[in-house]
Amino acid sequence: MKVDVLLGLQWGDEGKGKIVDVLTPQYDIIARFQGGPNAGHTLQIEGDKHVLHTIPSGIFHPEKINIIGNGVIADPYILSLELAKLVAKGVNPRVNLRISKRAHLILPTHRMLDAAYEQAMGAAKIGSTLKGIGPCYTDKTARYGLRFGDILASDFTEKYNKLKQRHLNILASYNFDHHVQLIDKMPFDEYEKNWFAAVEELRTFPLIDSELYINKALAEGKSILAEGAQGSMLDVDFGSYPYVTSSNTITAGVCSGLGIPPSAVGKVYGVFKAYCTRVGSGPFPTELEDTTGERLRDNGKEFGSTTGRPRRCGWLDLPALRYAIMLNGVTDLVMMKADVMNDFNTIDICTGYEVNGQTTQDLTYETLSNPVKPIYKTLPGWNHSLEGVNDYDLLPEKLKEYTGFIEETVGLSVNILSSGPGREETIQR
Ligand code: GDP
Ligand code: IMO
Ligand code: MG
Repeated sequence: MKVDVLLGLQWGDEGKGKIVDVLTPQYDIIARFQGGPNAGHTLQIEGDKHVLHTIPSGIFHPEKINIIGNGVIADPYILSLELAKLVAKGVNPRVNLRISKRAHLILPTHRMLDAAYEQAMGAAKIGSTLKGIGPCYTDKTARYGLRFGDILASDFTEKYNKLKQRHLNILASYNFDHHVQLIDKMPFDEYEKNWFAAVEELRTFPLIDSELYINKALAEGKSILAEGAQGSMLDVDFGSYPYVTSSNTITAGVCSGLGIPPSAVGKVYGVFKAYCTRVGSGPFPTELEDTTGERLRDNGKEFGSTTGRPRRCGWLDLPALRYAIMLNGVTDLVMMKADVMNDFNTIDICTGYEVNGQTTQDLTYETLSNPVKPIYKTLPGWNHSLEGVNDYDLLPEKLKEYTGFIEETVGLSVNILSSGPGREETIQR
């Protein structure tokens, strides 16, 4: 069997979590391959809302194994809170969650460093989620990092203190007092105490060699869905650098993030919203800083699942979408949240950009580093509720025209269309 992949084609928050949950019955194993608690994946099951940060979105299916892969970085304390929330909802993650021993640990001081770096950048800040993502991945590549496997060793505290001291030295050079700054409204010492209590709890959790587990499962004919976090436009190589996250969010990241060969990759589900959103700083050519943008935000409840920040909203950007489809080798498109524009009379869609007096249909280095003017095509809205529609053919004609225009431009068909946050509000073609 192959590893199918599901990931975001825009700037994150496309609705990946919902679709993973919907597709989980078709798979044996669901695995996260990158990112960490910067992610917020929302599932709405029978009206009940759940937000997952580190745990894969297949966790509500007790018979399916969920894996936090080696490419993921996790904060034990945040993970322990997530686990406790699941237990309170009657889910027992000890049964179906496994964590890679090679996944890196986010230390409390990684979060302090994140805050210090952002503060120092002032107006040029990335708009990080302040979960310690950048500093933790930095330590991973610089070869100072600590991993889940380390928590089993008797000298773990020693290793922790050594890395913490390293971080404190850097913080001192930024004149950043970790005893003054709070983490999640907590003084550092309290956060650190909770962090160690969580490490203690996780010591008794199933920690595995996930690459062996996954490849063995493949050889036995099991099916696997890899769940991406963030989005392709936040990829460290191909996103709007430096306004990106610190991991490879694209399909390529699945191989290094789970330990599978490229030949094992099967279908690639590319998830996108029928419009665009972005949280944090960085270029966003189709952003609407007007009442239309506000309507998208209000109708779409566009506030961050992890930080609560209002998301920037704008029209669908086809050059960016086509670029993401190319990078990921998308085979199946999944369009989310068209319902948010149910009451729009007209909808704009960006088909190209004007940059330095030239027009282009491609997203390039230049289009990401210069002010660009989007070129729009205006399409009629459908002015119709999508409630209760569960057959693609029964969708409003104007929505099918909107979808058709996207399909024609990017050369792929939309195979799944989501018409609301609930599990059941999903139309498979
Ligand atoms: P993720 O990070 O990609 O998993 O996406 P988020 O969970 O951060 O953001 C998606 C938001 O849109 C969540 O609040 C979902 O409940 C909601 N959502 C998902 N699909 C739909 C949809 O088709 N229509 C509407 N109106 N909301 C949706
Ligand atoms: P999901 O998985 C949207 C953004 C942050 C910031 C930049 C860097 O829910 O789609 P980081 O904390 O990674 O250093 O922040 O990336 N960002 C996200 N935006 N959805 C996410 O995850 C994100 N994870 C990070 O807002 O601009
Ligand atoms: Mg999200």
